Amino acid sequence: MSPAVQSKLPDVGTTIFTVMSVLATQHKAINLGQGFPDFHMNGELVSLVGKAIKSGMNQYVHMNGLPVLRERISEKVAFLYGTSINPNTDITVTPGGTYAIYTALTAILQPGDEVILFEPAYDSYIPNILVNKGIPVTVPLLFSDYKIDWEAVKARISVKTKAIILNSPHNPTGAVLDVNDIIQLQQIVKNTGIFIISDEVYEHLIFDELKHLSMLLYPDLMERSFVCFSFGKVYHCTGWKLGYCIAPPALMQEFRKVHQFNCFTCNSPMQYALAEFIQQKEHYLTLGLVIQEKRDQFQQGMKATRFSPLQTHGSYFQLYSYAAISDENEYDFATRLTKEYGVATIPVSAFYASPVENKVLRFCFVKKPETLEAAIQKLVKL
Ligand SMILES: Cc1ncc(COP(=O)(O)O)c(C=O)c1O
Repeated sequence: MSPAVQSKLPDVGTTIFTVMSVLATQHKAINLGQGFPDFHMNGELVSLVGKAIKSGMNQYVHMNGLPVLRERISEKVAFLYGTSINPNTDITVTPGGTYAIYTALTAILQPGDEVILFEPAYDSYIPNILVNKGIPVTVPLLFSDYKIDWEAVKARISVKTKAIILNSPHNPTGAVLDVNDIIQLQQIVKNTGIFIISDEVYEHLIFDELKHLSMLLYPDLMERSFVCFSFGKVYHCTGWKLGYCIAPPALMQEFRKVHQFNCFTCNSPMQYALAEFIQQKEHYLTLGLVIQEKRDQFQQGMKATRFSPLQTHGSYFQLYSYAAISDENEYDFATRLTKEYGVATIPVSAFYASPVENKVLRFCFVKKPETLEAAIQKLVKL
């Protein structure tokens, strides 16, 4: 008989994304639940990976990431944010943004440390804190624009506060940080030992001519930040699971200690390919507009339904209220929508540790026009 594992995460079950995707497959539903594009990624980038593999770039690269890729990342940061990043000491290439967040938390947390995060929250944050014996301290975002309640943040700061996790553009709500948020954050962390974990995987997926306010723009925030990015979100290749973390040298040194004995080094051919492709700025500079068009197409079509949109300014996602349609709770309604109407979504209550019910569902609109159209045809029947 196998020995019993004393679970470090006794309350963690299967993620809602997997639950809804399985349900979608079972019921042949259109999957607007999980956040991934259903269209092809750039063919040139695919060819560059093929070229790297064929020319033998298949062995371990440097544990911190392919040097030329780190140089190109630092050039990109200088171009976008006017910030100078040392590619040798400040950047580590990681297997995705989620891993970068986990590694940063593992590097800094001691048992009993508190980490402030905002709910609804991307589902990995709380388990990442708990597995490191930290204490998640949740602050609800204000319904229905999902802005940060900075007075509530101040009230939750304690001597044990080790870090604040930020995510802009935000999953699942599409909310983005504005200048006032940055000022409030600056005031709160000033003269403290609080770290910032900034999840910026949707850096380029920002709409309505808004500017992404990266921690990399502010020296006083950057000096305490682990800023996490994802190539999967930028180049429509979420399955590649490749990203990077940027942090000041002393922070990055600790990050790398954890990274070295976990994955050590990431997939090499894709790093060679990205090092070349990342130089073509137009791909990431136009991404916001391309995805905004999808949001607008989806919103336009959804006008024919009884769902009402909440604001989204970024990310892959749009929240819709179904208050005019049903009194069911979000999980039950999302389940019924999948089974009976053939469209899978994610109940926003699943992004809270203790479900909060606002009658809102998350739709991923980063799909082919025909996928969105087919989903809308089903949703008008409600
Ligand atoms: C807010 C947020 N952070 C991180 C990630 C994961 O990025 P990656 O696939 O690079 O690990 C996602 C993916 O959905 C996300 O929505």
